[in-house]
Amino acid sequence: MVSRTIPVDAFDLVIFGGTGDLARRKILPSLYRRYLAGQIPEESRIIGAARSELSEEAFRDMTRDALMEFLPAAKRDDTTVEAFLRHIRYVRVDATGQEGWDELRGVIRPGMVHAFYFSVAPSLFGNIAERLLAHSIADADSRIVVEKPFGHDLASAKALNAVLAEHFNEQQIYRIDHYLGKETVQNLMAIRFANILFEPLWKTEYIDHVQITVAETVGVNGRGAYYDTSGAMRDMVQNHLMQLLCLIAMEPPYHFDPDAVRDEKLKVIRALEPVRPEDIVRGQYLEGGGKPGYIEDSENPNSRTESFIALKVGIANWRWKGTPFYLRTGKRLRARTSEIAIFFRRPPHSIFDNAVDGQQNVLVIRLQPNEGINMKVMIKEPGPGGMRLVQVPLDMSFAQALGDEGTDIPDAYERLIMDVIRGNQTLFMRGDEVEAAWAWADPIIEGWEQRGDRPQGYHPGGAGPDDALMLLHRDGRRWREVKE
Ligand code: BG6
Repeated sequence: MVSRTIPVDAFDLVIFGGTGDLARRKILPSLYRRYLAGQIPEESRIIGAARSELSEEAFRDMTRDALMEFLPAAKRDDTTVEAFLRHIRYVRVDATGQEGWDELRGVIRPGMVHAFYFSVAPSLFGNIAERLLAHSIADADSRIVVEKPFGHDLASAKALNAVLAEHFNEQQIYRIDHYLGKETVQNLMAIRFANILFEPLWKTEYIDHVQITVAETVGVNGRGAYYDTSGAMRDMVQNHLMQLLCLIAMEPPYHFDPDAVRDEKLKVIRALEPVRPEDIVRGQYLEGGGKPGYIEDSENPNSRTESFIALKVGIANWRWKGTPFYLRTGKRLRARTSEIAIFFRRPPHSIFDNAVDGQQNVLVIRLQPNEGINMKVMIKEPGPGGMRLVQVPLDMSFAQALGDEGTDIPDAYERLIMDVIRGNQTLFMRGDEVEAAWAWADPIIEGWEQRGDRPQGYHPGGAGPDDALMLLHRDGRRWREVKE
């Protein structure tokens, strides 16, 4: 395969929370994969920073273990791993005290790109930001990276934005929503804006409805305490599903440029209609298949937190008024699958006597797994017997169409971390965008809290609570099946 990686400048990347779960699972393995692709310049350094009393050697050992655990065997060989580890440093810092900061300043070299990854609890953002500047470690060219959850509601998101804005300007802040780093999510923009085919039809006159599904088979095991304060609405809809909705619904930006793209997404979020209580279905997985239910996983016997949610969402603008967007996401469902399905309207009149039900074109963009595009079209069923119509898929799997490049899809974090180093914010959320998403989500959550709604139990291995099916049935529509 020809390497098409774009070179980046040499960098010092400091990972606060360098010994934490995200660093081990995603950040370090992603950096290694970029190293393997030849994209990490020789002089660059990756500096773990955390509270633990660790020697540099011990941090390298931890990194080696993480690579062994989280990378497929084919992606790592001892020589390359050892060469990569030579880029690794470790500094012990106390985020809320004074220890370690001068040492950190000693490690950071002038003339490099400086990026600081805050892979820590949001309550520490302010402390770290303040110390980075007080100790002259960061300057006006440095970049900082923050993770979700970015706030718990509008007020806390605003407070976080304000804390960061005290020390850094918006062009320095990279808010990660890892869905935006997924190849197929970026592909949504390519499909829409690099083809003439879809855009003329991309509006309520031709699109009946849109379904966005992010289904997972896993439960909340191990993260029950966090999840129970969050739920599917905050954990998935306010960010990941919202971003998918924006990419489908936004107007064409004038250029693939950070603010041009984010301005258009923001307009979509601001045009979202309030969601009516009868257009929301919340569920909680029950015990089954030898696995505990949500109540046991969350260790909260009275929990009303949803592990599944389905919503009917309207967009009040000229392009979309009258086309519902149905969103659903949940844990412990039948399959791990994420997809967007665009259901076109039926032709206004059928010239065929025996027209069959389902004369509806559907464009399905499969985000994961089996990334690809599938378009359902009507054709004549071959053979005698008159004009019998049948719906068939025009199926394109990226793996089949693109060979290695279609199967060897980089992890979202690889793309996002390299974009930080390149200084490209297009795939990161702007502060106003996050706040607008909370401004939409807050009243929905407050509504069910005030009403005291309880989520419905659903059996694991299915498609969520029965009422989620009704949400579409009542509109004369049907969800696509949850399957891989
Ligand atoms: C995270 C959520 O942001 O996304 C998790 O906190 C969820 O609850 C995960 O499982 C899903 O991401 P992916 O990339 O596996 O679809």
